[in-house]
Amino acid sequence: MKRPVGGTAGLVLVSVIGTGYLGATHAACLAACGHEVVGVDSSRERVATLAEGRAPFHEPGLEPLLREGVRSGRLRFTTECADAAGAEAHFLCVGTPQRPGSHAADLSSLDAAVGSLAPVLTTPTVVVGKSTVPVGTARRIGERLRAEAPAADDVAVAWNPEFLREGHAVHDSLHPDRLVFGVEDDESDQVLRDVYATMINSGVPVVRTDLPTAELAKVSANVMLAARISLVNLLAEVCEVASADVGDLTRILGLDERIGDKFLTPGVGFGGGCLPKDTRAFVARAEELGLAGPAAVLREVDALNMRQRARTIDRAVRMLGGRVDGRQVAVLGAAFKAGSDDVRDSPALDVATTLQARGARVRVHDPQAGSNVRRVAPALDVAETVEQACRDADVVLVLTDWDEFRGIDPVALAATVRHPRVVDGRLVLDPDKWRAAGWDFHALGRGGS
Ligand SMILES: NC(=O)c1ccc[n+]([C@@H]2O[C@H](COP(=O)([O-])OP(=O)(O)OC[C@H]3O[C@@H](n4cnc5c(N)ncnc54)[C@H](O)[C@@H]3O)[C@@H](O)[C@H]2O)c1
Repeated sequence: MKRPVGGTAGLVLVSVIGTGYLGATHAACLAACGHEVVGVDSSRERVATLAEGRAPFHEPGLEPLLREGVRSGRLRFTTECADAAGAEAHFLCVGTPQRPGSHAADLSSLDAAVGSLAPVLTTPTVVVGKSTVPVGTARRIGERLRAEAPAADDVAVAWNPEFLREGHAVHDSLHPDRLVFGVEDDESDQVLRDVYATMINSGVPVVRTDLPTAELAKVSANVMLAARISLVNLLAEVCEVASADVGDLTRILGLDERIGDKFLTPGVGFGGGCLPKDTRAFVARAEELGLAGPAAVLREVDALNMRQRARTIDRAVRMLGGRVDGRQVAVLGAAFKAGSDDVRDSPALDVATTLQARGARVRVHDPQAGSNVRRVAPALDVAETVEQACRDADVVLVLTDWDEFRGIDPVALAATVRHPRVVDGRLVLDPDKWRAAGWDFHALGRGGS
């Protein structure tokens, strides 16, 4: 790639293609760093919302950045890839969900985005993948762009995986633990260094590497996290059977410097738009690469995770005396984790819809995800408050780790429900307080109930 000379010192014209949880945050944060940013999305509705400086989903701190970016003129949104022409870097941020009927990643949105972008590439540029993809995708995109882009000889491909956590996305984007630049030439590396100058100047480490390593960085991080959660859930199940206390056990483990205390909370398991599908896509890709044997361990990680949902349902059914039909169930939480309204592959929503399918009358409350629940599971009854969800409930399930739920007064809530029975699927409630208030209390991993 030949980089044009000139431009405002250090500031870069960039495009961000795909403005969902990742792309909208990335675009807003780059505009906040002073760059000129064009966000491109195929959804007209999303573009209209973003163009007004409004966030199309719940993400703390995002809306003020969007508002300021749009107001300053540094941040624009469009449905047309042609409006991104001339950018020095094009960030690919479209979704790569699980392919229907398969464990592999569905790359159709990514391929469509590359197809729309290619004809627009008439000037030297670097196309930077941020979406999470199977290793080998960047090379394939590079070959396609060399065949289709008018300025093919001056178009480079780079991979710059994103590690942000929903609920902390703005903080993580502006203060990442590390930046990973998978590049094939010094010019691409320099463009990325200019884009991320604010972070680099504040001491964020950069790891420069090749394309396949950069692609692998994100899925590898996610399979490590997924494995850790499934392992702690296995320990929790043993604790339950052996009448041990998983809270004490994880505290003991967490104090071991080699292990640490993050991602050590057992419960209903991991979900969301990343960990489950990335674990499955990693296995699918490893199998394609002839590594089905060793990758089988990650099939178990996935199975252990799904088992947590089944265990939660079994526990609720047992508390209900084995009969679900016609019983009133309160589900507190629908988002896959606190701080987000994202219900993709959410354990909480999965448990709620499964119980409903088995004949229970389920009322769900989530501080942020209510409208997403109405959209993806319209048959579920959505309550505006904890009290509404729990009115006349035969059992209460706490399935997302919102702080609001930690503060519930078990004495007051006991007067709202029909039967004071609760399953704490996230270890957010104080067992002693709830038992003292008369609740039949069960927490996944905690023996003695
Ligand atoms: N959500 C996260 O926390 C996170 C973190 C790191 C990495 N990732 C990865 O980032 C990628 C995007 O994830 P997301 O959660 O933002 O997904 P998302 O579904 O929220 O957003 C994807 C966006 O891309 C748009 N889109 C689809 N096809 C398009 C096309 N051809 N042209 C333009 N826009 C198009 C969609 O309309 C949507 O707005 C995935 O690969 C994901 O694994 C996500």
